[in-house]
Amino acid sequence: MNGPRRPSVERGGGGAPLSIEVMKDGEALALRVADVFALAAQEASAARGRFAVALSGGETPLALYKLLARQQFQQKIPWRRAQLYWGDERCVPPGDPQSNYGMAHDAFIRHVPIAPENVHRMRGEDLPEEAAHEYDADLRRLADQMRPRVDVPVFDLVLLGLGGDGHTASLFPHSDALAVEEQFCVATTAPDGSPRLTITAPVINAARRVWFLVSGAAKAGMVAEVLEGLKVPTAVPAQGVAPAHGSLTWFLDEAAAADLSPGARA
Ligand code: 6PG
Repeated sequence: MNGPRRPSVERGGGGAPLSIEVMKDGEALALRVADVFALAAQEASAARGRFAVALSGGETPLALYKLLARQQFQQKIPWRRAQLYWGDERCVPPGDPQSNYGMAHDAFIRHVPIAPENVHRMRGEDLPEEAAHEYDADLRRLADQMRPRVDVPVFDLVLLGLGGDGHTASLFPHSDALAVEEQFCVATTAPDGSPRLTITAPVINAARRVWFLVSGAAKAGMVAEVLEGLKVPTAVPAQGVAPAHGSLTWFLDEAAAADLSPGARA
């Protein structure tokens, strides 16, 4: 690991146990998350015979995904037990440089022994409403497979990023998608007008583990706003992430954690 890892901070209050881990830089961040990703995959596979994970998109997880393709992690991760899903997608074909699926596929999926039927991508190339409806049905099938049976699919892990405007997945400030309770996946629109697909808050907050991966100075202000600012989830959607029965961990690098109060970074 690149430099000393700051110890995690356990803080209760209100929702899920919250941990904040601060690593020296993006490389150490990716390595730390790859390590705990492998442990989570092992735990879920041993306990439930399946590791259901929702991947995040954007640029930040790329370093992590590339590590997962490495031999040292392939040996630790029971890929044959993995069920891959996405938290959100851009409405583009899978081969498009903007595709979250495409990024993950190139970075690790094509290098690891996972069965194609266990890779559940959002069909960004289809009409957004149709693709959202289809993915909603896919998530309901996942819930049906779970024992004991659940109404909302319980992911073993949901990976999330943080946008500069406080969005996460494709849950944007003041968007209708924020208030959706009945559907597990909806079509929505990014502030730049581009169509998106996103899982909804009930699915995120039903997860056993929710991890934010945030790197870089550009995110420092928003990280402090989400964790220590006034709670206004409609304006800062990442504040609405509070797993009901699971744990919430923020994996940050020093630059992204720079505006947190000393107490938060004890
Ligand atoms: C997406 C993401 C989105 C992302 C944030 C942060 O499709 O864009 O899922 O929620 O995580 O926008 O993006 P970066 O990691 O690129 O800063």
